[in-house]
Amino acid sequence: MRQLPNVSHPNLLVGTSTSDDAAVYKINDDIATVMTVDFFPPIVDDPFTFGEIAAANSLSDIYAMGATAIAALNVVGFPSNLDMNILAKILQGGASKAAEAGIVIAGGHTVVDNEPKYGLSVTGLVKPGMEVTNAGATAGNVLILTKPIGTGIITTAGKQGNVSESVLSEAIDVMSQLNKSASEAMTEVGVAACSDVTGFGLMGHLKEMVEGSGVSANISVSNIPVIKGTHELIENGIAPGGTMRNLDSLSQVAQWEHRITENQKILLSDAQTSGGLLIAVDHEKSRRLLDALIVNGVKAASIIGETIKSTGSNKIYVSP
Ligand code: CO
Ligand code: CO
Repeated sequence: MRQLPNVSHPNLLVGTSTSDDAAVYKINDDIATVMTVDFFPPIVDDPFTFGEIAAANSLSDIYAMGATAIAALNVVGFPSNLDMNILAKILQGGASKAAEAGIVIAGGHTVVDNEPKYGLSVTGLVKPGMEVTNAGATAGNVLILTKPIGTGIITTAGKQGNVSESVLSEAIDVMSQLNKSASEAMTEVGVAACSDVTGFGLMGHLKEMVEGSGVSANISVSNIPVIKGTHELIENGIAPGGTMRNLDSLSQVAQWEHRITENQKILLSDAQTSGGLLIAVDHEKSRRLLDALIVNGVKAASIIGETIKSTGSNKIYVSP
């Protein structure tokens, strides 16, 4: 998306300039539409589960903006020589997540493709000015992450047949979980900034937040929730290509404390699918937000660090 020109329009409240999760277009003073699209090839074997995960992932960008999702369209690529029942199962998985989210899937489009791909183009609504962007953090905010990380490493190990059933099923639970109730807790309390953690990994999405907001951040590895079994897979040499590219792209921003190991750097750079919300919230509201998240069933929600004043360029200081 970085190749896109910076578009501006008086009604476009959020566009491409801050690498935000979704575009926000103001209809009038009371209502703005929030628009996003996301689709990708299967990351798990079961087609229904893949459909659920892809739909949860697509919806997440709406929730990250503090918006209400209302409707979606299916975006589908499917090989002409594959059993159409597989496609039906993928779409049923997506429909089941849409029902859980309380949105309608109103149509879609399918093209012939060499490998299956699935996702949603989602429309949401928000009151203009109430959208939560990744650019609103100020120094002294508390950083909260709502889901454990590790799904990129675990699904990569899964494709190689190198992961236990229990670890993989935990990752599938995490990826299938909607960020809806986390988003509702966030808008109830009121927060400074938010992004969902997806392909750029925890560090990459925090990088966009600190750069968009003009702050730096301190995070501590021991406070970051991690799916059980992820550490062992990294020790066994699982290092997804996307994750390693993420790590390479952090050289200007990441300030790794000398005790941080290479494996910890890989973990924090791991490309996530349908990851949690990364939220920056006023210090005084952080306890209330954590409580609201727990009440809403977001059990993994954890304080992982804080934003600080940046001196010159925006940095992320990572301690053990
Ligand atoms: Co996003
Ligand atoms: Co996205």
